[in-house]
Amino acid sequence: MVSGFLGSGAPLASDLTLLSLWVLGGGAIGGWTMARRKAFPRHCRWMALVTWMAVLPILFGMVGPWLKLARLGPDVFAQPTTVVPFMHGLSGGIAQFLMMYTVVRMNWRQQWPPRRPLVLMRVSLALWLLSIAGGTGVYLLLYG
Ligand code: HEM
Repeated sequence: MVSGFLGSGAPLASDLTLLSLWVLGGGAIGGWTMARRKAFPRHCRWMALVTWMAVLPILFGMVGPWLKLARLGPDVFAQPTTVVPFMHGLSGGIAQFLMMYTVVRMNWRQQWPPRRPLVLMRVSLALWLLSIAGGTGVYLLLYG
């Protein structure tokens, strides 16, 4: 196993996953400030880019370890180092799905519900940023 560069002894893949999500989280906050400055078309495209890019670290860094945890069955609840990443995967999956729904709704499918999408945008972004905080917690639990 190749160690990462953050000095925690975590695998390289975990450090890359963590760093890429922090960069994307910063990007999402930048996209939010675009909306505050009323640059809506740029905000919409930017949030779509950030959301689709997040699929890569999730697919390559998280789905594999999560499936291993899921295969433990009820034993996954036996200790914090398994139950916390397992639950993070479920809540992160919901957050990522909601972000994807929101960017598709805003960019390409304006007829999709809800008719007033502001709450959807706020909730999905808040959950998504919370997932980054949760993922950072998972990293610290596993390798901190
Ligand atoms: C909004 C979506 C998500 C965000 C922002 C996020 C963020 C993170 C971050 C920053 C880490 C720490 C890096 C690492 O340890 O590799 C992490 C770890 C992890 N995530 Fe996520 N995650 C998300 C969605 C998911 C999903 C959908 C799954 C399940 C399929 C998942 C499962 C895991 C697992 C199992 C780990 C521990 C990986 C390891 O053993 O190193 N996450 N996540």
